[in-house]
Amino acid sequence: MKTNRLETPALIVERDTFYKNLDAMKSLLEGRNLSLRPHFKSNKSAFIAHEQMKYGAKGITCAKLGEAIDLADSGIDDILIANQITQPSKIARAAQLAHDCHLTVCVDNIDNVKALAKAAKEADSIIHCYVEYDIGMDRCGVVQPEQVVELAKAVTAETNLTFDGIQAYAGHISHVITEKERLDMTSDNSARLRRLLAMLDEAGVPARELSGGSTGTSVIKAEEDLYTELQAGSYIFMDGTYRQLGLPFENSLFVLATVVSVRGGVTVLDAGVKSCGMDQGEPTLVGMNAERIEANEEHIKLFGLDKQLNIGDKVRLIPGHCCSTVNLYDKIYLVDGDKVVDRIIVTSRGKSK
Ligand SMILES: Cc1ncc(COP(=O)(O)O)c(C=O)c1O
Repeated sequence: MKTNRLETPALIVERDTFYKNLDAMKSLLEGRNLSLRPHFKSNKSAFIAHEQMKYGAKGITCAKLGEAIDLADSGIDDILIANQITQPSKIARAAQLAHDCHLTVCVDNIDNVKALAKAAKEADSIIHCYVEYDIGMDRCGVVQPEQVVELAKAVTAETNLTFDGIQAYAGHISHVITEKERLDMTSDNSARLRRLLAMLDEAGVPARELSGGSTGTSVIKAEEDLYTELQAGSYIFMDGTYRQLGLPFENSLFVLATVVSVRGGVTVLDAGVKSCGMDQGEPTLVGMNAERIEANEEHIKLFGLDKQLNIGDKVRLIPGHCCSTVNLYDKIYLVDGDKVVDRIIVTSRGKSK
């Protein structure tokens, strides 16, 4: 099938660029003490998780229990939920899921540690834990190193939990434009993390893993020799936000849209906020520029376009944010230029619980 025959809006991925990105990450980490544990949030597709495993990933990171269940169901057997599971019914499900894979969850609260331990005991399973340390993102995690040590000891004391290490995700650094700034911000955190690791050693609860990092900090993380796991997700697709950073990955993901109306100086596309994630800004046009873009639910209006388009013409858009875009689609078409070569099901679409 020709790509231009797809009904739009359609989500497409250029196959060669996608595999080049997988390969670029593999090369970046080759010979380093840093394993890839890519974040599922960017693709939500079991097929892609398995491709990432073929390209060297040790396991997969995800955000939600529902995604972890989907991944285990597809045969992925090493899964990190990079979040806290606190609802009792979910804790019970997580304890069951721990029979089906090596399951790691994040903790930052002593009562939650006790609840996880109780559920794992009842289910006769083992839940692996990373204590989450907040290194500036100001989201989850404890702020004081002493609290990390206390939680690590509490986890270690439980028979059905194991303390495997630390999650320290500095998401506030990921999109900082210049490498110099990203590097400076990372160095401050690294010093704090090295002190924390020494404290854990002294307290007799050493951290085997230090997990975090993103596409934006992947090169820095590969070179600094501190983290043991890299949680990058967007590198396979990239997006409008990440493309400004000069990273060794290229845009492979596009929303294909059709021109549905041309009025005076305005060209209207059939894709809008409901088909292109705009939480990190508007999409970028491929092969043309507009003076201004305005997005509604189902339309994008292009003002002052530097190219004459007619009704029925197709336009490729680079979404501002790949992760929120993928979650809007049931399938992603794998294309080779003007030819559709395969279709990937977004198996975890909408699995936000
Ligand atoms: C916990 C966690 N790890 C890693 C990432 C990195 O993802 P990306 O490489 O897509 O920026 C994210 C992104 O939100 C995240 O929330």
